[in-house]
Amino acid sequence: MTEKHAGRLVWDWPLRLWHWLFAIAVAGAWITGQWGGFDWRQWHFWFGQSAVGLLIFRIIWGFVGPRHARFGSFLPHPKCLLAYLKILPRRDSPESPGHNPLGALAVIAMLALVAVQASAGLFISDDILYEGPWYAAVSEDSADLASSIHHQLAWPVGAVLGLHLAAILAYRLFKGQRLVRAMITGRKSADRVPESAAIAHSRSALALILIVLVAALTWWLLTVAPPQPPPGLDYW
Ligand code: HEM
Repeated sequence: MTEKHAGRLVWDWPLRLWHWLFAIAVAGAWITGQWGGFDWRQWHFWFGQSAVGLLIFRIIWGFVGPRHARFGSFLPHPKCLLAYLKILPRRDSPESPGHNPLGALAVIAMLALVAVQASAGLFISDDILYEGPWYAAVSEDSADLASSIHHQLAWPVGAVLGLHLAAILAYRLFKGQRLVRAMITGRKSADRVPESAAIAHSRSALALILIVLVAALTWWLLTVAPPQPPPGLDYW
């Protein structure tokens, strides 16, 4: 395969793996939360707990990962955002190597909303059988507030995910940009992305160490660190 056909590497494998696992965790938590009822409650907790671990990984990777994974490389300056909005309606607007300025805002919105949603879930109880691992650490009022946030954010999270999928489809149909393929293979066409914008590698060793550390931290945060429940109550 020629270099031109192989394309330029822009998304590292940890970010791609992270994306698809995060999609499963968030979609799973959302569906089981909205429609799963009591039978799927345990799955809802597993998906939610996975989202917590994945978010911790993504935040750290946003500082130590390769170029296009770093928050500093894709958070748009307002001037860039305005300039991008002007050319947005053009079918031939240039493809960004990483997130485009508008997509970058959607990324931050998705990460922030899911972070608040998942964190709130750690402090709530269904008043019947299940409690979040940190429920015993907060007052009744705080648990009620967390519960209200957790329930009210469900639709905004769904809406931002719907927007995410609609935008990706629109970029494919109107601009011919194959963003999904890039999120699977990590590569974008050499015709559209200059060599200087490609990343050299995925920082695999660092990613593997971080995955082990974040898994351990998440397990500790969700199972070891929380205060013990009063006798007779189950934690999830
Ligand atoms: C339903 C749950 C999903 C969630 C929570 C989600 C979340 C995200 C997030 C947070 C990013 C930014 C990646 C980063 O951290 O830098 C992203 C990017 C992306 N997602 Fe999703 N995603 C979901 C589903 C999907 C699906 C089903 C597809 C494919 C149809 C998809 C395609 C993409 C693509 C192509 C990008 C890169 C966009 C770009 O080039 O800027 N996502 N997604």
